[in-house]
Amino acid sequence: MTDQSTNASWGGRFSEATDAFVARYTASVEFDQRMYRQDIQGSVAHATMLCKVGVLTEQERDDIINGLNEIQSDIENGKFEWSIALEDVHMNIEAALTAKIGITGKKLHTGRSRNDQVATDIRLYMRDEIDVISAELTRLQQGLVELAEREADTIMPGFTHLQTAQPVTFGHHLLAWNEMLERDYARLQDCRKRVNQMPLGAAALAGTTYPIDRHYTAELLGFEAPTENSLDSVSDRDFAIEFTSAASLIMMHMSRFSEELVLWASAQFQFVDLPDRFCTGSSIMPQKKNPDVPELVRGKTGRVYGHMISLLTLMKSQPLAYNKDNQEDKEPLFDTADTLRDSLRAFADMVPHLQAKKEFMREAAMRGFSTATDLADYVVRKGIPFRDAHEIVGKAVAYGLETGKDLSEMTLEELKQFSNEISDDVFDVLTLEGSVAARDHIGGTAPDQVRAAAGRARQKLSARG
Ligand code: ARG
Repeated sequence: MTDQSTNASWGGRFSEATDAFVARYTASVEFDQRMYRQDIQGSVAHATMLCKVGVLTEQERDDIINGLNEIQSDIENGKFEWSIALEDVHMNIEAALTAKIGITGKKLHTGRSRNDQVATDIRLYMRDEIDVISAELTRLQQGLVELAEREADTIMPGFTHLQTAQPVTFGHHLLAWNEMLERDYARLQDCRKRVNQMPLGAAALAGTTYPIDRHYTAELLGFEAPTENSLDSVSDRDFAIEFTSAASLIMMHMSRFSEELVLWASAQFQFVDLPDRFCTGSSIMPQKKNPDVPELVRGKTGRVYGHMISLLTLMKSQPLAYNKDNQEDKEPLFDTADTLRDSLRAFADMVPHLQAKKEFMREAAMRGFSTATDLADYVVRKGIPFRDAHEIVGKAVAYGLETGKDLSEMTLEELKQFSNEISDDVFDVLTLEGSVAARDHIGGTAPDQVRAAAGRARQKLSARG
């Protein structure tokens, strides 16, 4: 990166060069150069439109487009020299274009400003990121649904307050995570609609005097429509806040998912085994296998929340229209996209290889009187009011705690001490299989329902574009 402190773009009005430190302080090229592809894409469309409306000749348009394409390959081959004096990605590319093709390069900026240019570039960038992130999210969901189908019959304890509550199937638990991600996907797609509006043509703030065709440029860039108001176009960053908010929800879900994996991989739970390649060891404790990936996803959730707050605070109280403050939108946005994409990718790679340790899950479900509600429901079916049934089962549980027996391990005589209505058929409901199979309605944990729900989830996933 070179560092000269004069800037040719506005030198005309200035009597001295920009202070070298100020040039560095105000520059964004170190981080916004990652939008070079979108910047070139936007410029190619702008030049094409300028030619269509007669502002550029076909020769000028072609020279500009060829020059921009060469610049793109220079950048991609590491042959491009970024300059801090040229402040940002936009002016770096424009200066390189003029250096390459001469005076025609200076015509590219006709009828636009960096204000609408940068707003366009970020939207193009966000649209690309949303598509990549949505694909990773879909891949993760596919893995979850497949695993849920494989584990539809696997029984584990379900928890409330992290205390054993009722038996559930592991497939059902996995599909709970899928539901969260399903809503997350819908939020991303909804956000994409507002990202996909084109600010180009708003110019600095008021529009331009050239006979531009914004509908045409929008079409060339795949935007749904040009934005309605030029002042709003150059200053709006709602779409960026919305994206970090959708990203925060995804990371929140991923952190819940992570927390469970960390717990479940512990020697105390032993519900799952994570593949070795997603874990690390300890340099001092030879027995350790640490669940680093879920721990990091859990940890990285914080920075994404932080970026959402940064952007909300960045926009708070800004007067219309563009303010230099807006240059600060990029780092939070880029880091949000990077963090989210990588976290989803790691999980999408890992989830299909999660090993359920069925014996441990089952043993845990046997502890903690997880079928107590089933016994209460059974007694109710024999004609006893629910409140009394609750009392009866409470006593049975107290007895179980004293004697160290699960409800299903008691004899009929033992159970009869609590209610005479209890008979032989009670053991059908006290088993773990009987308990889960009985919750046989849409949204319930019965294995058949899990298979049906997984089928519906799979269908939704395959209907995605
Ligand atoms: N680098 C600037 C940004 O990121 C580009 C727009 C600057 N516009 C201006 N009038 N200084 O927002």
